[in-house]
Amino acid sequence: MSGPLVHVVGARPNFMKAAPVIRALEARGIRQLVIHTGQHYDAAMSDVFFRDLGLPAPDLNLGVGSGSQATQTAALMVALERAFLEIEPALAIVYGDVNSTIAAALVAAKLHVPLSHVEAGLRSFDDSMPEEINRRVTDLLSDLHFVTSPEGVDNLVRSGVPPDRIYFVGNPMIDTLLANLERFDPAAMRQRLRLPDRYAVATMHRPANVDHPEQAARVVGMLQAVARLVPLVVPLHPRGRPALESAGLVADERLRVVEPLGYVEFLSLVRGAVAVVTDSGGIQEETTILGVPCLTVRPNTERPITISHGTNRLVLPEDVAEALGSILSAEVSADRAAPPLWDGHAGDRIAGVIAAWLGARAPVRPQAPA
Ligand code: UD1
Repeated sequence: MSGPLVHVVGARPNFMKAAPVIRALEARGIRQLVIHTGQHYDAAMSDVFFRDLGLPAPDLNLGVGSGSQATQTAALMVALERAFLEIEPALAIVYGDVNSTIAAALVAAKLHVPLSHVEAGLRSFDDSMPEEINRRVTDLLSDLHFVTSPEGVDNLVRSGVPPDRIYFVGNPMIDTLLANLERFDPAAMRQRLRLPDRYAVATMHRPANVDHPEQAARVVGMLQAVARLVPLVVPLHPRGRPALESAGLVADERLRVVEPLGYVEFLSLVRGAVAVVTDSGGIQEETTILGVPCLTVRPNTERPITISHGTNRLVLPEDVAEALGSILSAEVSADRAAPPLWDGHAGDRIAGVIAAWLGARAPVRPQAPA
């Protein structure tokens, strides 16, 4: 394969992880293309991130869209296979744990395109989440594993990945957060959404929390209990809206339900919040660095470092109001040590490894006769 490097992105959390890697490779003059699979396609789930992060439009948009797990993954694979056969990537770079990630990994492996996984080694050890399956399979197929926190290295070694394929580089999502910190303006969001000084933010979109009416009802009860304690803003992912509304989610002055927000708007809102209630993966990491208490409504997390080093706690829906009550009454210190290498330079480290890897594979030119 002699073509450019190819980044495959597709869903909202991919974009902020890819941005610093794309930039650092560009600074090294390395040839690269960005393929957007179209897994997320709403302007609020995709375009706004390219704008906010100053990324050029993707070179190719496959427009795959939504579907069941199998329908979506299969459609992603068919479209990616066609693209890879045309481009002949020297290396495919995939991010995180979404369906676009596993689809690209399977296609790359079968076409013998070398594969690199950014955010390798995370494990929730909970196979009921599609993301856990995506992580395990992607790591199994990858040649270069870029890891965000030390336990990721241990998880990979335990699953048989040779140590010389594992690079602990830090967290590129945090590169993006630190690079944009000055733009996160809580006062502007307070004014725009007419919020008081103290407010909380909630996001819920996991299938386990929003797909089944019974669970959706627990989540709605939880959101209402939180809103009784402190005004709450809920930027709602399109996935959860119908189920949560059928389960009785009604917006009012204390429970503000808004459309999904862009990157800068969302982190502006989070930065000014007294606490965040979420089932997202990335938000556990972002709150850790912003020093905002985070209550994660899941039985487990693939990001335990956000609990040991950060502000994160796992809670049941029924326990969220009590946990929030103690956050509101205590002085929670925002002064914590960041996890190792969450320092804004992960993208550079990844680009450095990739440049060295490409250099080692470059064909040696025969010397011209003297
Ligand atoms: C995906 C990821 C999840 C990640 C989340 C972030 C997988 C398995 N899951 O979940 O890990 O946390 O993205 O958002 O890849 N929809 C729209 N517009 C869009 C995108 C989705 O309306 O632009 C709706 C559709 O009804 C769609 C549903 O959301 O069927 C689910 O989208 P999908 O991409 O399948 O998974 P997410 O729940 O977004």
